[in-house]
Amino acid sequence: MKRLNVGMLGTGFMGRTHSNAFNQVKRFFDLPYDIVLKSCYSRDAEKLARFQKTWGYEKCETDWRKIVDDDEIDLIDVVTPNFLHKEMVVAAAKAGKMIICEKPLAMNYEEALEMEEAVKAAGVPSVVSFCYRRNPSVALFKQLIDENRIGRPFHYRATYNQDYTISKKVPVGGASLWRLDANVAGSGVTGDLLAHSIDCAEWLNGPIARVCAHTEIFIKERQNAVTGEATPITIDDACMFMAIFANGSLGLFESSRYARGRKNFNTMEMNGENGACYFNLEEPEYLQFFRYADPDTGKKIEDHLTGWQKILVTNSEHPYMNHYWVPGTVIGYEHYFINQLADFLLETSGGAPVYPVPTISDAVRVQKVCDAVLRSAREKTWVEL
Ligand SMILES: NC(=O)c1ccc[n+]([C@@H]2O[C@H](COP(=O)([O-])OP(=O)(O)OC[C@H]3O[C@@H](n4cnc5c(N)ncnc54)[C@H](O)[C@@H]3O)[C@@H](O)[C@H]2O)c1
Repeated sequence: MKRLNVGMLGTGFMGRTHSNAFNQVKRFFDLPYDIVLKSCYSRDAEKLARFQKTWGYEKCETDWRKIVDDDEIDLIDVVTPNFLHKEMVVAAAKAGKMIICEKPLAMNYEEALEMEEAVKAAGVPSVVSFCYRRNPSVALFKQLIDENRIGRPFHYRATYNQDYTISKKVPVGGASLWRLDANVAGSGVTGDLLAHSIDCAEWLNGPIARVCAHTEIFIKERQNAVTGEATPITIDDACMFMAIFANGSLGLFESSRYARGRKNFNTMEMNGENGACYFNLEEPEYLQFFRYADPDTGKKIEDHLTGWQKILVTNSEHPYMNHYWVPGTVIGYEHYFINQLADFLLETSGGAPVYPVPTISDAVRVQKVCDAVLRSAREKTWVEL
């Protein structure tokens, strides 16, 4: 068994999902690691003490550098707001630690390149948490593409919509609404939500070649949660963009935090010559598939039952599902993080992941597309990648 002492930087929503994954992963996957939750960081001492107790960390620090500099720590997990990612990842790489980092990788492409350089120079393994790839239905989507069941792709469509900032009374800044502050988040829905959509799109349909975008700020000033002052909003509240993929297919992407009724409406659809696939995170255990032609012969399947199939992705032959319960029983959001961690630890120990994990270099690519989208919206023109 290899020693794996974990240092968690951040104790919010993602601090919880990642800590849960470290606690659970060996209960479902066979891994040659002795995992110990060694230390966790938050700047808020009171919350930190509660977090440490709840998730079972041996110690805690209000100075994250002490964790990075600790020789006992083998892996640094960065789950802080975006503006801290670069400094933490570069320091962790220089200290020779394995790295997990939340998305978006950085505030912008330049920062992302700096992080990639540090990680490459150190030669340390890394994964960026594009967790939706690890939903079994999305992984099955990928499998159907690889099996040529979609065939030549013509269209790719993605939405990622929420509705929690519609009220003018929602403030900006502070511990919970840092996502509305450009100095802390980098961008709005583009980095926060579309980064996921772009990652899945390029994973499923290959590189995006050019983009044309429009962004909107619906409420241009909000009260600052810390200072109480009226503060201009500069992040994108909504973003829509057209994309042309290198394979010639056409992409449409939409994301908003003003889509009334939508909480985490993450969808992806691909329409090809042989078939089509649709995934919707509001029904995460299902994958919809339309079978038109035989993947081997390309011939139309003559069948009066042709139509959309809604596949319940819980059988043991479906990706990841043989690690969990019995067919027909669903798994949930937290399992994407467990699956991701399992694949990362399998990869780093010479085992066989279900799919290779997205590294810092993959995330640099996503950051490049995000920056191109924002530039396109600013300059009102197509941007080549
Ligand atoms: N993979 C996913 O699906 C997913 C989902 C949510 C968030 N994220 C990413 O995870 C990261 C953390 O997001 P979250 O939802 O856990 O955030 P959160 O607000 O729940 O928690 C952030 C943590 O950082 C602390 N913090 C806030 N502002 C800080 C500051 N200025 N300096 C130091 N610490 C600060 C908070 O106290 C908290 O411990 C972000 O990069 C976000 O984009 C990814």
